[in-house]
Amino acid sequence: MLLPAFKLEEYFAKYEFIASYTMASSDPETYTLTELLGMADEECLSLWNNLKFSYTETHGLPLLREEISKLYTHQNKENFLIFSGAEEAIYITMQVLLQPGDEVVVVTPCYQSLKEIPKAIGAKVTKVALEWENSKWNFNLDKFASAITGQTKLVIVNFPHSPTGCHISKKMFESILDIVKQHNVYLFSDEVYRLSEYNPEDCLPNAIDCYEKAISLGVLSKSFGFPGLRIGWTGSQNKALLERLAAYKNYTTICNSAPSEILSLMVLRNKDAILKRNILIANQNLDLLDQFFSRYPMIYEWYRPKAGFVNFPRLKLEMNIEEFAKQLVEEESVIILPGTMFDNEENHFRLGFGRRNLPEALARVERFSKKFQ
Ligand SMILES: Cc1ncc(COP(=O)(O)O)c(C=O)c1O
Repeated sequence: MLLPAFKLEEYFAKYEFIASYTMASSDPETYTLTELLGMADEECLSLWNNLKFSYTETHGLPLLREEISKLYTHQNKENFLIFSGAEEAIYITMQVLLQPGDEVVVVTPCYQSLKEIPKAIGAKVTKVALEWENSKWNFNLDKFASAITGQTKLVIVNFPHSPTGCHISKKMFESILDIVKQHNVYLFSDEVYRLSEYNPEDCLPNAIDCYEKAISLGVLSKSFGFPGLRIGWTGSQNKALLERLAAYKNYTTICNSAPSEILSLMVLRNKDAILKRNILIANQNLDLLDQFFSRYPMIYEWYRPKAGFVNFPRLKLEMNIEEFAKQLVEEESVIILPGTMFDNEENHFRLGFGRRNLPEALARVERFSKKFQ
């Protein structure tokens, strides 16, 4: 299978380790090992201290799957399969579900794998674009509904959304579920930003709690802020499907990293404190960004999201966003991610606001922005 270059990863590879600040990351401030061990309960510490570097269970450590199931309402550990990050879960799920010629509907802009892997398999991919209206990203339910046909096999959604930060109401999510149920299609729900809603009232139900043909994608990288653990999972009511995914995994990673599984257990057993801290940093940064963008209305179009650690503001200058981002990183050593990395041609850029050093990075962006006032 031939896959195109992963634009976002290649852009980061070029600048990430030479620039002083990244204001483009999709993950929040992470933790040190010492901080995590300091939060761990006795059982986890004992597992950690007695850890052996043997192969682990393909489906994932049962204790960890049990902890994952607590993030859902009606599931138990048998409904989950653990992978190396969300990326492996996306790759394998698409490989198992899709055949050349199948029709897939995907909400865009999106994490590149969600559309490129189906395309590389030979599926016909129909995009439903989020719409930028009145300085805000909106999901158009009518366009979504009309994109699904009798031939559609799989629908891919992602709320809270990356890279736009767009979030939908529970009512809208129910409407999505009604539509996919009427068409009896698979729903792949990328929920990697679930639980990062600043107001818990905005948290959507997990797709697999609502629909037997749904697959929920979760990971420790985003809402929790532990991307280096590379622990993600798919949940499904369909255990036969999970077995097919597990059989495929024998040809990729076979099993998960033994230390990562124990560390992940520590993360999930401290989920409330971790999520609270990550959301607090995001909100403090969002206050600063609100003030910053209100000082530069002629340069940027921006809105404050309701969840996550990224959004997708627009550069209003004539200058194209790739050139702007290049000058910013060269002059001020701050990375933002041009929207072209997501095939967006309307001068948007991904802004990440989950890091503690955002105030310093923003001071540099402000110095740079003054040139265009
Ligand atoms: C929406 C979305 N899904 C999946 C992923 C992949 O996550 P991971 O890096 O943990 O594999 C990302 C990463 O940025 C993402 O933004």
